Amino acid sequence: MTGERTTQRSCLAVVLAAGEGTRMRSARPKVLHAVANRSLLAQVLDAVGKAGGTTTAVVVGPGADAVAGEARRVLPDAEVFVQAERRGTAHAVLAAKDAIARGADDVLVIFADTPLIRPQTLVRMRDALAGGAAIVVLAFRPKDPKGYGRLVFEGGELVAIREELDASAAERALDLCNGGLMAFAGASALAILERIGNRNTKGEYYLTDAVAIARSLGLQAAVIETEEDDVRGINTKAQLAETEAALQQRLRKAAMEAGVTLVAPDTVFLSADTKFGRDVTVEPFVVFGPGVTVDDDAVIRSFSHLDRAHVGKGALVGPYARLRPGADLQEGVHIGNFVEVKEAVIERGAKANHLSYIGDATVGAGANVGAGTITCNYDGIAKHRTEIGKNAFIGSNSALVAPVKIGDGAYVGSGSVITQDVPADALAVARGRQAVKPGWATRVRDLKAAAKKKTPAK
Ligand code: UD1
Ligand code: MG
Repeated sequence: MTGERTTQRSCLAVVLAAGEGTRMRSARPKVLHAVANRSLLAQVLDAVGKAGGTTTAVVVGPGADAVAGEARRVLPDAEVFVQAERRGTAHAVLAAKDAIARGADDVLVIFADTPLIRPQTLVRMRDALAGGAAIVVLAFRPKDPKGYGRLVFEGGELVAIREELDASAAERALDLCNGGLMAFAGASALAILERIGNRNTKGEYYLTDAVAIARSLGLQAAVIETEEDDVRGINTKAQLAETEAALQQRLRKAAMEAGVTLVAPDTVFLSADTKFGRDVTVEPFVVFGPGVTVDDDAVIRSFSHLDRAHVGKGALVGPYARLRPGADLQEGVHIGNFVEVKEAVIERGAKANHLSYIGDATVGAGANVGAGTITCNYDGIAKHRTEIGKNAFIGSNSALVAPVKIGDGAYVGSGSVITQDVPADALAVARGRQAVKPGWATRVRDLKAAAKKKTPAK
């Protein structure tokens, strides 16, 4: 995706994540909220990585240990800088001065609350640097330009960005706006950034002033225009939901482009890391939590919920199935309605078609788990494993009290409570014996009729 010249250039991404996000009305830092089950910060760091970012600096606010932790979890090499006081976007970038001073060819300034930025857009910005620009502004035409910095042109050239609060009426009428993210040629980045002052309405160090300063130094400023989604910022929970919706559309489209059949795409919810093979079919109303992989030819039927699970080739899941973390379905497995699987390997061709809980278990290849089977994995203190052998048959409504092993090819009679291991090819029945009392029902009915005669109707 990267232009040839761009690939050869080193790139430092400075990710600004020092915002407080007070308008989210949340105890959690803004950039740790999630879209498509991934934090805003992780989403942005992923885009940076795909755009060829070779080093990354994350600027966090004071005391933002959780933000720093998330940065390091996603990108162990990330260098974290603290912006002690929030004094504006340029001030925040300079918190990472030491990293910038190391002299990468390209310096990308990224906002961590703008999670839909696409790698290809960052690459376009880098390509403009490779073409000789000292600074690249990412512009867009919002439906409502209120609150955004406006791009001011003279004789077809970008000369400044004016923040809304400082703009004249004529400038406010301009509709090409600043998306916020910028790219700098490493060679002149610090010279520009360190000249930025704070003489404006808010008394902040504005990154946007970099444009006029670059011009005054005789350097070239370039503009790249992009779609609004790329620079969609998040300040409120409502905007978080709008961004989620936009990202879901993107993920659905990408899945279909990769060959997945989504019968009703708008009803399927994906995670940023959901992985599909070829010719997978997903019926309406399915939710994919994080960490799900679905292999070729599998079918996920309606109303199923999957979370950190693997669905093997040609497997059939649902309708109404729940795959919880650690569910590993191998090729051709069937998991049917109201079956919950957690931390369990279901081997090739095994089936659990109705109403079961399979947790902390192994189900051998070709085994059949009857309706209502429950692995009793928890004794109130610890979790224990159930092992069901190959081609075993578990009769309906059985309780398998773990730790317990059912041997290969063994049978468990319906309604059994199995507390001891069952050898291979044996039959285990563990339930009360059936008693039959001939004529019992007739006698009860006769007694009832006699009682009725004694108390005549009023
Ligand atoms: C910024 C741009 C504006 C642009 C808009 C696009 C400036 C001066 N203005 O305005 O032209 O139209 O984005 O959304 O750049 N941050 C810090 N430390 C600070 C200040 C900000 O880390 O001291 C971070 C924020 O957490 C955020 C980003 O920088 O991730 C942008 O800051 P924000 O306050 O949202 O800038 P805007 O007013 O939206
Ligand atoms: Mg903003």
